Amino acid sequence: MYLLIHRPKKSSKSVCRRSNIALIFVSVVTLVGCDSRIEKFDPNEVFSLTLAKSESVDMGQAQEDVTKVIETLFGTPESPTWPQDLISEETLVQTERLRRAAGGVSSEQDGTHLGLFQEHCVVCHGVSGNGRGPASQFQNPYPRDFRPGIFKWKLTDRAEKPSREDLRRVLENGIAGTGMPSFSLLAQDDVEALIDYVIYLSVRGELERRLLRISVSSLGYGEEALSDGERLQFPGDEQSKQVIVSNLERIVGQWVAAKDPDEEQRLISFNILEDDAGISRGRELFHGKIANCVGCHGVDGSGGVATLDYDDWTKEYTTRLGISPNDKDALQTFREVGAHRPRPIYPRKLKNGVLRGGDDPVRLFQLIRQGIAGTPMPGVTLVNEENGKGLTEAQIWDLVSYLHSLQDK
Ligand code: HEC
Ligand code: HEC
Repeated sequence: MYLLIHRPKKSSKSVCRRSNIALIFVSVVTLVGCDSRIEKFDPNEVFSLTLAKSESVDMGQAQEDVTKVIETLFGTPESPTWPQDLISEETLVQTERLRRAAGGVSSEQDGTHLGLFQEHCVVCHGVSGNGRGPASQFQNPYPRDFRPGIFKWKLTDRAEKPSREDLRRVLENGIAGTGMPSFSLLAQDDVEALIDYVIYLSVRGELERRLLRISVSSLGYGEEALSDGERLQFPGDEQSKQVIVSNLERIVGQWVAAKDPDEEQRLISFNILEDDAGISRGRELFHGKIANCVGCHGVDGSGGVATLDYDDWTKEYTTRLGISPNDKDALQTFREVGAHRPRPIYPRKLKNGVLRGGDDPVRLFQLIRQGIAGTPMPGVTLVNEENGKGLTEAQIWDLVSYLHSLQDK
């Protein structure tokens, strides 16, 4: 079973956590059954409620209409569809791969696996990719909610989508120190089908969120009930179509634009790394005013700096609405529609700590440059010459050398 295959090298603690998760996984699968039919994707009620509170509106009609539109475009968990005729780009997602990843678990006569997402991912990520599968509540961090379209472990820039290669690396390696297992033993075309399905769920979920937001910000939903002619629908009038297509194109465009850095950039990095002078410059930068890594990660990356902060998935329905993540009563309505119990996010211990995204130097360069999307970890300003306001490329490489030197000591 795949959960037992991945052995993180550094932390014995996470091995133990992983096996707990394996147990949970087994029991939950027995409860839900791997091939139970699931008729519909859950609507994003937590986000609707967030909008209802922040805009002081009623979201009932908007939620109903957006759910219909999304279902017309993207189908159901059993028969997903991809709105190819509305999109100019042709290769992002292939319907044959969706078919293989979707639905209940079974095999075709030629041995092709079907229902891959349900078999391997639903228990944590949930049917709609909302990060609320039955085993999710025991985990820290929680499994990713794909619907906001924000991903952490990637070589693309902070505000960009991950590339296909980024998603492939996450599936291949897992995410050390978290519940996310490695899927390196799956056949390559199963992995490709799963990547398409993650992109599909993310595009679907992000369009749903955008349409919900737009329905109250510009389509007049939320105050009084709209008449039939004013409602968002598909296929519908020109205005509806234009709103739907332009938002869909924008999201799809971001996925298509996300590219892995080229080989050349990877090669350069190895020449710069790991000399003693670089490491000690990096150490100084780490503790210095500009990068101020020490402010969160502690002296020599030893951790222990008390910060109380949350990731963006959590802040959206708590601090950004003026609700304290500790205020159980205020959060009750969100919890009832499926929000996770807020969990603080802490800066990592870096000295012999687990690097969740791996220790590849190009990756660490990009991590320092861009920070980690969806989390409090900030990026740095890149400057051409040392000027006290940002870091130069060479200085970032020194920090990479220093981070490497913190491992295995
Ligand atoms: C046992 C629980 C578990 C299972 C099973 C699981 N995941 Fe995850 N996954 C997680 C957790 C936890 C995270 C978040 C880790 C973090 O925030 O660093 C995650 C994160 C991710 C991410 C986001 C990576 C990023 O850069 O932000 C992707 C994509 C992903 N999982 C895909 C999958 C797919 C596809 C499957 C099935 C083949 C799967 N996961 C199965 C727990 C799981
Ligand atoms: C405002 C606080 C803050 C500052 C400043 C900060 N970090 Fe972080 N850092 C975090 C948090 C929070 C995480 C954990 C993110 C997660 O796991 O989702 C993190 C994670 C990391 C990781 C682990 C990545 C992995 O793959 O697991 C590294 C390495 C790192 N930071 C390096 C740095 C460096 C180098 C600097 C200075 C240039 C820095 N950080 C500045 C908050 C901070």
